[in-house]
Amino acid sequence: MQNTAGWRGVIDRYRDQLPVSDATPVVTLLEGNTPLVRVPDFVKAIAGEFDLYLKYEGVNPTCSFKDRGMTLAVSKAKERGAQVVVCASTGNTSAAAAAYAARAGMQCVVLIPEGNIALGKLAQSLMYGAQTLQIQGNFDQALDIVRGLGETKGVEVVNSINPVRIEGQKTAAFEVCDALGDAPDFHFLPVGNAGNITAYWKGYQQYEEAAKSDTLPRMMGFQAAGAAPIVGGDPVTNPETVASAIRIGNPASWQGAKAAVQFSGGKIDKVTDEQIVSAYKQLASSEGVFVEPASAAALAGIIKVSAAGGIDEGSIVVATMTGHGLKDPDSAVTYANSEAKVVPVDLEAVKTAMGL
Ligand code: F0G
Repeated sequence: MQNTAGWRGVIDRYRDQLPVSDATPVVTLLEGNTPLVRVPDFVKAIAGEFDLYLKYEGVNPTCSFKDRGMTLAVSKAKERGAQVVVCASTGNTSAAAAAYAARAGMQCVVLIPEGNIALGKLAQSLMYGAQTLQIQGNFDQALDIVRGLGETKGVEVVNSINPVRIEGQKTAAFEVCDALGDAPDFHFLPVGNAGNITAYWKGYQQYEEAAKSDTLPRMMGFQAAGAAPIVGGDPVTNPETVASAIRIGNPASWQGAKAAVQFSGGKIDKVTDEQIVSAYKQLASSEGVFVEPASAAALAGIIKVSAAGGIDEGSIVVATMTGHGLKDPDSAVTYANSEAKVVPVDLEAVKTAMGL
């Protein structure tokens, strides 16, 4: 779906719904226009009686949904004359910031939690040429530092505390409505810093207000059990989860997430690492869709809600697969059910290995 003829990125496509003008220099890598993949075998395997579509954000230019917000954040930073963009990140925001800054000819500095971002994401920020600083602490502590850096002249913070990030990310909700002809009944997604659930809800509301859709979905956010501050009602000082992208203890858009679930009649709940890993493997092997562990939290959420009878028969359900599985090769190799066996260069040996 990427680079469909005539596709010029989310700012071009949804310009009338975004805070841009003719004076805004558009920095784009042709993000957006991602596939909505129907996964009936996955639904059957969990004994569901609904229609599930995955918004596969892993095929964006830096392989996560962050590109939608970053095209806008970097374009606006450039318009405002900033020289440097900075962010704290669990890996995907930093990859996107680094890429779009490179595209814009701007400097980029990223603060990541030491030893706690997936290998592919680290490779991205290094390759795109961002100054990459590993903070000896967690994401929440890195974000506190970034808030301080934002006071400096010429420096633009491109975390989702910058409202234009949310504006860009809401375009995914527009695409879902455009593809389905209306909003779904439920929208599931993983929750970390809570910017994306806030953004989708904003997008769905705006489309309904503009009469481009008739209904609103119930917003269903899922945190990892070891990093579930919104579920517990208090910040978590030492968040832990296999899904490093959502290893966040004090989400910046906490209130946005609360509002989204309250007004939509949805909920924020948690899933264990075991449930996340199980959904992660099941999706790849049953549907050929490889996502990173954080994305699988949304699927684990669907399994949980469906098992409790919370998804009515015939419902249209969408889940955002926020990042590509190749972002985190270590998790894949660790959790895959098989390993790459070594065999001699010999036909018979290969046949034996194949069980022939
Ligand atoms: N899924 C992935 C793959 C992510 O990278 C993130 C967030 C989320 C889900 C959660 O989205 O924060 O809007 O609630 N990653 C941020 C980052 C924190 O720095 O890349 P959220």
